[in-house]
Amino acid sequence: MGRVQGKAVFITGAARGQGRAQAVRLAAEGADIIAVDLCENIATNGYPLATEEDLAETVAKVEKLGRRIVARKADVRDPAALRAAVTEGVAELGRLDAVVAQAGICPLGPDRTAQAFLDAVTVDFNGVVHAVDAALPHLPDGASIVATGSLAGLTPATTDNPANGPGGLGYSLAKRQVAAFVHDLATVLAPRQIRVNAVHPTNVNTDMLNSDLMYRTFRPDLEHPSREDALPSFPATTGFGIPYVEPEDIAETVLFLVSDESRYVSGMQMRVDAAGYVKRRPQLPTF
Ligand SMILES: NC(=O)c1ccc[n+]([C@@H]2O[C@H](COP(=O)([O-])OP(=O)(O)OC[C@H]3O[C@@H](n4cnc5c(N)ncnc54)[C@H](O)[C@@H]3O)[C@@H](O)[C@H]2O)c1
Repeated sequence: MGRVQGKAVFITGAARGQGRAQAVRLAAEGADIIAVDLCENIATNGYPLATEEDLAETVAKVEKLGRRIVARKADVRDPAALRAAVTEGVAELGRLDAVVAQAGICPLGPDRTAQAFLDAVTVDFNGVVHAVDAALPHLPDGASIVATGSLAGLTPATTDNPANGPGGLGYSLAKRQVAAFVHDLATVLAPRQIRVNAVHPTNVNTDMLNSDLMYRTFRPDLEHPSREDALPSFPATTGFGIPYVEPEDIAETVLFLVSDESRYVSGMQMRVDAAGYVKRRPQLPTF
């Protein structure tokens, strides 16, 4: 028996990166998956998002583990599209036990506009709300809701790095709202024993981190920093002195939160940050 044997889990942003790692890890422990991804680019986001080929690869990896997966191209900014994907997935899989709302963008860049700010908020916060809203009518008592924030969701906005631009501010605001949303929703859904938790990663070794605009954030002193230029600065965000964690490290925490092992764990802001938060000594409360 796997740790999530027979459960069905809805994951947004599942075509690559952390979402794919979660789909594969959960499937390895016996879960079926409803996977959605935009599979298109967003103009203000300065690095490419996942493709339909990426989503097909997630499907192949889950099926190779002997589990079922319903994959749909859908935008988390579009509530109707998410509702349709979940309804079709539940019709095929017969149930829904958990949602992992984790699709995200990070439209950094000093030359970005207010649209970058709004896109970050709309994808990274509204997208979480839409995913939860699409899942809720199907979730039984005792279900699990997980949302991905960021260490940026637990620390004050970085307003002194010009490389971040308006999109960086939007990202920070959205992630802080994810943290607050999880806190509040945990109280609302407590009478149904539905637990609601956030996972807050430090740097994760995915395409979001490995992008030219992110290198510029870490090395704002250089016009066009390379990964080699930025890499020595990555460990500054962790206490352990490591540059990043792997998507599989986040998937382990998500697995725990989806499994019944966490049946009495709710309202948590789960940091997978290699002691980055405690190192920063932030002024904000941790909820
Ligand atoms: N990589 C990091 O360093 C890091 C750190 C902290 C938090 N996070 C968060 O982790 C989550 C996963 O990011 P990742 O690191 O796997 O990056 P990623 O870019 O590899 O994956 C993000 C996925 O979300 C999808 N997506 C983006 N916009 C979408 C939309 N509107 N609708 C549907 N799908 C959409 C992308 O196509 C992609 O597959 C995000 O919420 C991100 O903010 C990442």
